This record gives sequence, C-alpha cells and structure tokens, in this order.
Amino acid sequence: MPFIIAIDGPAASGKGTIARALAAHFGFHHLDTGLLYRATGAKGGDPVLAAQTLDAGDLARSDLRSAQAGQAASRVATIPEVRAALVDFQRRFATREPGAVLDGRDIGTVICPDAAIKLYVTASDQVRAARRAAELGADPAQMLAELQERDRRDSERATAPLKPADDAVVLDTSDLTIAEAIARAIAQVDRARA
Ligand code: DC
Repeated sequence: MPFIIAIDGPAASGKGTIARALAAHFGFHHLDTGLLYRATGAKGGDPVLAAQTLDAGDLARSDLRSAQAGQAASRVATIPEVRAALVDFQRRFATREPGAVLDGRDIGTVICPDAAIKLYVTASDQVRAARRAAELGADPAQMLAELQERDRRDSERATAPLKPADDAVVLDTSDLTIAEAIARAIAQVDRARA
C-alpha cells in the first residue's frame, strides 16, 4: 500500500512549502492540487470542458501563481462538474509508489479520506497576508482582502468546502519558522508511519 499524506488549509498557510519538504524528506511524489484549479481557471472558455481537457501545457503556464489566477481558480472550484473532472487524476496520483503528498482544500475530506496522515495547516489571516505580499511583492492590506474573499468562497461552497477532516492534525504556523513547521510535520508523519 502506498503511503498517502493529505495536506489541506487556506491560502498562504504554508501548506505548499510543507508538502514539498515532506515529499523531499520521505522520497514521495508531490501534487499541488491548487495548480489544477488555477490551470482550469486560466484556460478560459467553459470551465468544465477546460477541466476535462487539462494537459501538461496548461499546467506549465507561467502565470498560474498570480493573485488573479488564484481568484479564478477559487471561482471555477465551486462548480461540482469541474471538481468531478479532476478527481480521478488526483486519486491515481495518490497511489504512486512509494508514497504521495497531495496538498489542497479537500484532500483529507474528499480525495483521499483514507490517507495515512492528514495535516490541516493554518495561520492567522494577518500572517498569511504578510507572507503572500512578500512573495508576490504586493500590498499586505490588499492581499488580506484577497485571501479573506478566497477563503470565504472556498469554505462556504456546497461541494467539497475547505475544512479540516475530523481526523486531521491541525498545524498552526503563525508563530513558527519554516524550519519549525517542517520539523513538526515530519514528526507527525513519523508517528503515523511507526
Ligand atoms: O492552493 P491554491 O491557492 O493554489 O488554490 C487555488 C484555488 O483552487 C483555491 O482558492 C480553491 C481551489 N482549490 C480547491 O478548491 N481544491 C483544492 N484541492 C485545491 C485548490
């Protein structure tokens, strides 16, 4: 049985950084599932068709990390048929040997409910806005409004909303350095593997 690590959390919580570090540490594959929604939103046209026909070229676009691409992703992510079109790819990825780390909003709740370990990574709104502003060279106040709008949409949608799985371990990174957050995540995975 491949080992699955599910990581969920709001925007700029540090989940992507932690997911990459865990994959490197354990020699696992990593899938940033937000990229699938970003590529779907950026592709334009009918979002359902865009999700159904997503290819490697769509995922390689250089503009997917922008705040606009994040908002577009959050909007198409409310459409049940878009989410359904992306399920198989994610579940297949999760079975790759020797293990996989998937990060997103619904990995522990919907995509991989049987994951060996589920982390819900979060941080205060202010900390997340400051981090994202530094990363994108943007205004923190504007980032705060953008993140809050996106989190509200992601949490309030009817299909696969952002929320911790009942059996998720919550990791609040507000007062942690990146190294500390990674060390705690590794310790949780080690415990689940023991
Ligand atoms: O993780 P991210 O910021 O790149 O995600 C962009 C948007 O995609 C996010 O606001 C909501 C959506 N998303 C989702 O609905 N489900 C996922 N598993 C991952 C992302």
